[in-house]
This record gives sequence, structure tokens and C-alpha cells, in this order.
Amino acid sequence: MTQPLLNEIADVGRDRRRGGYSRHVFDDADRQLRDWFTARAARAGLGVEADRNGNVWAWWGEPGPDAVVTGSHLDSVPGGGAFDGPLGVASALSAVESLRAKGFVPSRPMAVLVFAEEEGGRFGVPCLGSRLLTGSLAAERARALRDTEGRTLAEAAASAGFPPERFGADTEALGRIGRFVELHVEQGRGLVDLGEPIAVGSTVIGHGRWRFSFSGQGNHAGATLLTDRHDPMLPAAGVVAAARRAAASVPEARATVGRLVPTPGGTNVIASTVDVWLDARVPGGGSRALVEEIAEAARAAAADEGCEVTVTEESYSDDVVFDPGLRDELSATLGGAPALPTGAGHDAAILAAQVPSGMLYVRNPTGISHAPEEFAEADDVDRGGAALATVLERLCQ
Ligand code: GLV
Ligand code: MN
Ligand code: MN
Repeated sequence: MTQPLLNEIADVGRDRRRGGYSRHVFDDADRQLRDWFTARAARAGLGVEADRNGNVWAWWGEPGPDAVVTGSHLDSVPGGGAFDGPLGVASALSAVESLRAKGFVPSRPMAVLVFAEEEGGRFGVPCLGSRLLTGSLAAERARALRDTEGRTLAEAAASAGFPPERFGADTEALGRIGRFVELHVEQGRGLVDLGEPIAVGSTVIGHGRWRFSFSGQGNHAGATLLTDRHDPMLPAAGVVAAARRAAASVPEARATVGRLVPTPGGTNVIASTVDVWLDARVPGGGSRALVEEIAEAARAAAADEGCEVTVTEESYSDDVVFDPGLRDELSATLGGAPALPTGAGHDAAILAAQVPSGMLYVRNPTGISHAPEEFAEADDVDRGGAALATVLERLCQ
């Protein structure tokens, strides 16, 4: 049963200030969640091992080629919901338990995989573990990523017992995956609108993250005339408005500023620098063009205020179409479950470039995600776990 497993971790990483959960790679909550997963997987008779990149694998049978692998992540966005990630991990464990209980013996290796830092909540690059595993993020760049305290990923990994010098494309681990299936709470209202509890994934909109760094002149909020200012907050605010304006003119585009950091950050201080993070997602490969339009507006606004701006691409992913054969097999195995596109990124979408990958979505009655209101009804959680067990049984025959 999946819900009791989720209940076991319900107190881990609760964020009393923001609400919801803040669970970030190599922090205390992450360590407790890894320990919980390791103990739970061992109890289910699985052999647990960490890979070179901090992802954790739990094997049913000997690790080997052509394995059926399922899993998700345990980290969250700051103040995130209880289901984004953990639902897929808990469902995978409960699916294994129910298959064992009915005496099923897989005819090929099977594994539950927990990816590190899917949200990029601490080091800024989403799907960190799957990008490192697949080699789509260079180890050297990953090691140098810094959190808001200035700590590098290399330092954080080393102190958590994961040698950062081992980071990098892991062709051996990746080569074992025959097919990958990730179960996930739906992050919109697609299933609510269809009146269905479960769907299979069809596509993921390409997405990326860009940092706009504005610099001006820190100064006194009272003593500095408006005409004498070089206030980077003005062009920073311009990015927020330009992002909405640009995205509104492109069908299906989304652009979001969810994080803006002024330095030094005092109420009576004109900031000396402001960093603005832009998340842009446009189907059909249009993200970079949209960001360039926003960057043009930012450069003009910075020049008007006598400020400088640099724009850095921190991550980028193209549109993904999940393997159509696997998608159809999942749908048929589940009695014709509908196929749904999504604007949310997933480790399954990173893996999809190298191995046949698919997804199952579980209905979310609120349609809200990355917030404490994210939800799945107990009956749907059970349906999801049962659907995953059915799918794993089929793929392992
Ligand atoms: C992850 O959930 C993302 O889409 O940012
Ligand atoms: Mn998420
Ligand atoms: Mn997720």
C-alpha cells in the first residue's frame, strides 16, 4: 500500500515557514529520506546501491541488462507538496511488495531508482541526477554549482559521503536500463477534466532556466535623488513584465520569474545587484527565442537606468516525445488509459533521449503542484500503485 509509505515520511523536511516541504539534495531531510528508502527497499528484499552520481538503485534480483526500472525523486521545490516525487517512489516500493506477495517472479532484472535533486531546488539545475547519469550535464560543471550559501555541489556531496570526483556519465548503470517508467502525480487538471484516475505520458514541453544578473550602484534610499540612481531593481522588475508579455504572445508558452534576489537586500538601500531567475517553456523548441526577446527588453531597461546585465543559461531541455511503443503498451495494459502531455519536467524525460521511457500520471483533484495544495485522493493513490504493479508485471514477463 502506497499511502502508509507516504505517511512514514510525512514529517521529514516539513517547512514550517513556507508551508509544505523543503527537501534538498544532501541536506538533513534528504539524508533521512535516503535512509528511509534504503531500509524500506531492504525490507522488500531489494539490494540497494548508490551510483556514481548520488542516485540510489534498489534491485530485485541481480543487477543486469535489459532491466525494467521504475522510480522518481524524493527532493522537493522550496515549500513543495507531498506527492511530486515521493508518490512515484512509494508507489514503486508498494508495487514490488504486491508483486512479491502474489508470488510473481520477474523474468528480467527490475529496479527502483531514486534520482538526486530532480527539482534543482538547491543547486539550480533540474534533473541533476539523471543529467549526470546520462552525460547531458558535464561533471565539471556540476561539481562547481553553488547553493545559496555559496557551498559547491562537490563540497556538499563529499560531506554526505558521495565522492564528487566520481560524478559523470555512467554508461554501465544506464546500459542496464531496458525500459524506464516513472509514476507521478499529475501537475495540472488534465485527468480531472477527463474524469479519469490514471493517464500515460505523451510529451513534455522543452524548458530551461536563465539567470539575469543586473548590477548598478548601491546607495542610500533617502539621500539619492531619482535622477542620480543606477538602481538594478528597475530593469529586474522589467524582466517580470517582459516575460509575461512575451509568453502571452506565443501559443502554449510559459515564462515565470519565481525567484529574485537583491543584494544587499535592505529596505532603505538601493540594491547594488539583483539576480532574477527566469523559467521559460515553449513547445517546438521556442524557449531560447522567447528568452532572447525578454533579454532584449532587459538590456534596454538596464541601459536606461545606467546598469549592466548579463544573461546566463543555467539549464536547457528540448521537447520530449515519450517512446510511442512503450506509451501504447502502457495504455493498453491499463485498459486504454488516456495519453496526456505535460509542461512539467521529469527525470523520465531526460532518460527518454537514451532509453525507452514512459510515465504514468495519477489524478490531482486540486490541479495545483509545487505548492502545499498538491494532492491525490487515497483511492487514486491506490489505483496508481496497482497500475504500476500491473505495468511492471507486464514489462517483466
Ligand atoms: C519540475 O517539476 C519542473 O517541471 O520544474
Ligand atoms: Mn516538480
Ligand atoms: Mn517531480
